[in-house]
Amino acid sequence: MDNQGKLKELIELREKAKLGGGEKRIKDQHNKGKFTARERIEILLDEGSFEEFDMFVTHRCKDFGLADKQYLSDGVITGHGTIDGRVVYIFSQDFTVFGGSLSETFAKKICKVMDQAMKVGAPVIGINDSGGARIQEGVHSLAGYAEIFERNILASGVVPQISAVFGPCAGGAVYSPALTDFIIMSDKTSHMFVTGPKVTKAVTGESITTEDLGSASVHGSKSGVTHFVADNEEEGLMLIRKLLCYMPQNNLEDPPQTECNDPIDRLEDSLNEIIPEKTSQSYDVKDVIYSIIDNGEFLEVHRRWAKNIVVGFAKFDGMPVGIVANQPIFLAGVLDINASKKAARFVRFCDAFNIPVVTLVDVPGFLPGSAQEYEGIITNGAKLMFAYGEATVPKITITLRKSYGGAHCVMSSKQLKGDLNYAWPTAEIAVMGSQGAVEILHGKKLKELTDPEERSKFIAEKESEYRMKFANPYQAAKFGYIDDVIEPRNTRFRIIRGLKTLGTKKDINPMKKHSNIPL
Ligand code: HXC
Repeated sequence: MDNQGKLKELIELREKAKLGGGEKRIKDQHNKGKFTARERIEILLDEGSFEEFDMFVTHRCKDFGLADKQYLSDGVITGHGTIDGRVVYIFSQDFTVFGGSLSETFAKKICKVMDQAMKVGAPVIGINDSGGARIQEGVHSLAGYAEIFERNILASGVVPQISAVFGPCAGGAVYSPALTDFIIMSDKTSHMFVTGPKVTKAVTGESITTEDLGSASVHGSKSGVTHFVADNEEEGLMLIRKLLCYMPQNNLEDPPQTECNDPIDRLEDSLNEIIPEKTSQSYDVKDVIYSIIDNGEFLEVHRRWAKNIVVGFAKFDGMPVGIVANQPIFLAGVLDINASKKAARFVRFCDAFNIPVVTLVDVPGFLPGSAQEYEGIITNGAKLMFAYGEATVPKITITLRKSYGGAHCVMSSKQLKGDLNYAWPTAEIAVMGSQGAVEILHGKKLKELTDPEERSKFIAEKESEYRMKFANPYQAAKFGYIDDVIEPRNTRFRIIRGLKTLGTKKDINPMKKHSNIPL
């Protein structure tokens, strides 16, 4: 073959590879409202930046008639490209080839990009759309999965890992996304479960649909497995781009700073009035978040799950931060098991990638009751305490209103290495709320008071006494447990000045193999 012929061969092979499992299967994919693996990469990456690896790889299985069924790329498209000019590594499973199922060579392709991403120090993005282990390949497929899992684990905390699930993701295959930092599922077209409806029925007798078992909606609001639910794939892909804006390329870099046109000393008068006069009344903490961050741009994580705590990314004067805030309009902002897990994982992500944490506190305590105790609120609440206590990134805490008991200690208190702890004049930092305190401190007297009117009067008096003494920020300020009481409308400026001051912060935890977070 002459050189022209060789060139023609290359072009033809490339065209063939680009067809994946063939035109009919591509059409089927589109009919399901899904993009193909290559289309997803094209939408996600900066135009023309994708460089593909291993396009000519094929599987090695000869059983079950597979020797004659060869598809170039073998069901996964891999390589690197850029997002906003920054390098990312990517793999995108191709459902048109054996249902995106994972073979030995498929796994090797993924491992290759993960290994290179680790050497280069760049994020890894995985797009999942797969029927799981390629059944014909048996144990090779299982080994391939485990190779990927091990790499997910070692890359954790070194480079950001983001998973999109845009189709089926079942069986052990769910564990690769689960080991990564963030999962995005597309509404209606994706599902994740360890065991599908048929096996569930056979083993437990439970009849359940695929949707009810593992849809994006289920994992976005019930299990918390997915951090984001996108209306469609395009929105999901844009979300990945946005998410990366807040992250450094790896754990040795700082997150990218951008120009900010929102004045740093912008006073937000509404904040002086936002806390209701009655402590039993609620307000939306997101109104506080939106009014203090740059241009009101907040990327909320886990928006539909554990709504009593809000977590997400924002910027202050162009500096990326993670925000954690108790949400009084859901369960009065109480800390329960899910809220503790949600915030703990978020704080640990921020700490791993040098993203400062800003915490807004309005927490009445931990949720009482047997349901929470039996499910282990003790261990789970400890996760959040552990996450804050271990975090060495700059930590700024603003107490807006309630900060009671153990929950006060947990929510980035001074003693858990909070760097700057400010309180609004409306803050109430105390062991517990006035109602509970009066019940305990005056239990004997209350038993003696049988006349309801006298009893109510006594309670009101004692509660008012307690509130006068403890329901304010000044007890804590008196002992240096908070650094200052600030005017609410000035919160944005105080946070920005704090972040700038703490920009050179150095704090190192004792040397150890690893900590033993209460899992
Ligand atoms: C080989 C597979 C496959 C698989 C699908 N295909 N899954 N080939 N191994 N795991 C093939 C089909 O034979 C079909 O080939 C094509 O992909 C499309 O599949 P369909 O069934 O026609 O598509 P659809 O109706 O959309 O259903 C998709 C599906 C279903 C829900 C994913 O295919 C399915 O249930 N697959 C099996 C899922 C499964 O049980 N996987 C193993 C899980 S155990 P043709 O040639 O007809 O187009 C596991 C262990 C991992 O993954 C452990 C890791 C530790």
